[in-house]
Amino acid sequence: MRLNAYLARAGAASRRGADKLIVAGRVKVNGKTGQLNDDVSDDDRVELDGKPISAQKLRYILLHKPAGYVTTLSDPHGRRKVTDLINIAERVVPVGRLDYDTTGALLFTNDGELANRLMHPSFEVDKTYEAEVEGEITSEVLNKLSNGIELDDGMTSPAQVRILSVNRIELTIHEGRNRQIKRMLEAVGLPVIKLHRSQYGSLNLEGLKVGQWRDLSKDETLQLQGV
Ligand code: URA
Repeated sequence: MRLNAYLARAGAASRRGADKLIVAGRVKVNGKTGQLNDDVSDDDRVELDGKPISAQKLRYILLHKPAGYVTTLSDPHGRRKVTDLINIAERVVPVGRLDYDTTGALLFTNDGELANRLMHPSFEVDKTYEAEVEGEITSEVLNKLSNGIELDDGMTSPAQVRILSVNRIELTIHEGRNRQIKRMLEAVGLPVIKLHRSQYGSLNLEGLKVGQWRDLSKDETLQLQGV
């Protein structure tokens, strides 16, 4: 792993901040001043300002997010944060976001590379949402949603859509724009009353009660990494 990634995983700095520490000569690898293009492994001795540091274990976690939690790492209104629910030594962050009142599958990791890849629009992870709506779900509405909707930030990609009951609809999309599902449904005259993400990629919430989390299995992690 690149030295800057190692420092970031150790919680010493962001990757860019780590580059600055390296350039400033504050990082040593096995006793020698670290260089930007150094590769290090867990067997190497890395020191920052003369103190040994070690990279954190990579964690991949699935949380069943409750309503009433923000996905941001700090909140000016002092509301509860999703990270409060995951008490572990490693500094994991949510991959993407769910609204304060949205429940469901939320992935966390300290693997910055994977998180960035998963959040990139070109990566196209399918996300499935169940929405309780106000109004009538007609076949015209289903057609519109499955063809794509014009929103103020552009056309959405076609969604897979299914009626679950008279006022509940399931949508699968791969984009992750801000409040996308609520805005898509609002645009077809179906304001959302409740929103739940039932699936993220191939991960569902089976066995996880609201507020509970679990580590992903090796196979699940490899699948997310596209290996
Ligand atoms: N779309 C929304 O509108 N809200 C969410 O929380 C997730 C997707």
